[in-house]
Amino acid sequence: MPGIPMRSGGSKARIAVIPGDGIGAEVTPQAVRVLKAVCASGNRALEFVEFDWGADKYLREGVTLPPGAVELLRDEYDAILFGALGDPRVPLNQHAADILLGLRFKLDLYVNARPVELLHDRLTPLRDRTEKDIRLIVFRENTEGLYVGVGGVFKQGTPDEIAVQEDVNSRKGVERIIRYAFEYARQNRLKRLCMSDKSNAMTFAHGLWQRVFKEVRQEYTDIDSRHLYIDTLAMEIIRDPRQFDVIVTCNLFGDIISDLGAQLAGGLGLAPSGNIHPGKTSLFEPVHGSAPNIAGKGIANPLGSVLTSAMLVEFLGWKPQAAAIRAAVRAALRENYVTPDLGGNRSTVEVADWLVQLVGKADFAEQLK
Ligand SMILES: NC(=O)c1ccc[n+]([C@@H]2O[C@H](COP(=O)([O-])OP(=O)(O)OC[C@H]3O[C@@H](n4cnc5c(N)ncnc54)[C@H](O)[C@@H]3O)[C@@H](O)[C@H]2O)c1
Repeated sequence: MPGIPMRSGGSKARIAVIPGDGIGAEVTPQAVRVLKAVCASGNRALEFVEFDWGADKYLREGVTLPPGAVELLRDEYDAILFGALGDPRVPLNQHAADILLGLRFKLDLYVNARPVELLHDRLTPLRDRTEKDIRLIVFRENTEGLYVGVGGVFKQGTPDEIAVQEDVNSRKGVERIIRYAFEYARQNRLKRLCMSDKSNAMTFAHGLWQRVFKEVRQEYTDIDSRHLYIDTLAMEIIRDPRQFDVIVTCNLFGDIISDLGAQLAGGLGLAPSGNIHPGKTSLFEPVHGSAPNIAGKGIANPLGSVLTSAMLVEFLGWKPQAAAIRAAVRAALRENYVTPDLGGNRSTVEVADWLVQLVGKADFAEQLK
């Protein structure tokens, strides 16, 4: 996928690592190993500091996001590599909401970038589709919408119970994500942009998306931009994914359509994402969750986290390192050196070992000069 805007062009960076729960704690250390190997070959220095925020800490100490955490990350780190949060022992996953949504909102990470890129033909469930057909990016608004937690319940536990969840959309919030998507398309010479909403039914909230889209697109006449309702987009992306380069949408629809996209490109185990505020400390995480059903078995696919680390170094402005990581992942897929979710029989650590030795080889290192 083409580049994401960078934070800095320096050769050193500080990375906060939050492995989290379940398979997050299994795949994240493996992505760190790959990052260390690729940076060692390419004369880049990454300093990693690990934070143990997650279910265990919450159950032990009652702490989710410790006081001062947001300021610490904002002021002292260039980026955050995040695993996943979610634990069946924690009712309603309160810790996950506090930590992940807390960081997204408090660091104002308004862009959720989710590339959907088929890296090997055999991985898509769509018949007769190849790598060149599935190559797009979803930009999901990440700080507003139905996820802000405005609402409440009335007469809870009675037959008359009412639950309300408000969809919050600000002019500023809608404009900045739409503008970001257009800028991304222009900078990466991508010709087609699709804004998706449900303005036919959600006339107030998504009427705002319509008005802003119509205004902003006038500044980007070099981009072929169009609108699709989210239900139509869900059909069209399956029928013919070649139509799409850049998709921009609200928090809820972006959450759903990007998981659908992840499946088109090989499944959740492979999907990376970035929670970005251009120029500021940003957070990178695989799209998948903590997968309690396979946690502790050593079979979680580390490639989603490894591809996430490629997005992270790209954000630092280290394009050759990002390209090297992606090339190594493609090689693992070609060789079928993969975990069971992709049809292989390798463990999480075996896949990472293979990637580490590959990026450490002389010809790989040569590409990084
Ligand atoms: N960003 C996050 O931290 C995040 C995202 C989604 C879900 N969650 C949380 O994770 C927990 C589990 O949620 P879920 O089951 O709906 O989603 P999930 O992504 O954890 O798992 C969905 C399915 O995909 C499989 N899967 C996911 N990642 C995989 C990988 N790397 N390798 C192999 N298989 C993989 C799982 O085994 C499972 O069958 C819940 O508590 C949920 O709230 C967290």
